[in-house]
Amino acid sequence: MTAQERKPTVLLINGPNLNLLGRREPDKYGTTTLAQIEERLGALASRHGVALECFQSNHEGELIDRIQQAQGQADAILINPGALTHTSVGLADALAAAGIPTIEVHLSNIYKREEFRHHSYVAPVAQGQISGLGAYGYTLAFLAALDLLGVRKED
Ligand code: DQA
Repeated sequence: MTAQERKPTVLLINGPNLNLLGRREPDKYGTTTLAQIEERLGALASRHGVALECFQSNHEGELIDRIQQAQGQADAILINPGALTHTSVGLADALAAAGIPTIEVHLSNIYKREEFRHHSYVAPVAQGQISGLGAYGYTLAFLAALDLLGVRKED
């Protein structure tokens, strides 16, 4: 299937420990589960006529493999790289190589937390970043991706 034949596709990627959302340090990350976030974005995707694919892994290499596979298959990437945000040159390189417009999402405000969380390797290869707005940040990032793709319907 060529890019012209398939629906615009948004790929949601979540990194290490984000499978635990809902019960992981709820004071920092809230009580919404990853399944609930994926469900919300899925509903938005159908409303706007786009496809949503979701991927979560605790393994850096698997995340890099998924980003490589996304070439020619996804039109925008939303990524919460978890702790790999602050450590992974490999993940940033994979995103740069894929050349797919990317929005970085963090539930917590990484700039209000420990110093080591203030630096993101992903930020320089992302179109933009949403940090500190909890699970709602994923919704905002999804709407921003629709805007980038020029497929956002009126709300
Ligand atoms: C996080 C922030 C990271 O510093 C942390 O390691 C995470 C979650 C966030 O969504 O706020 O795993 O990406």
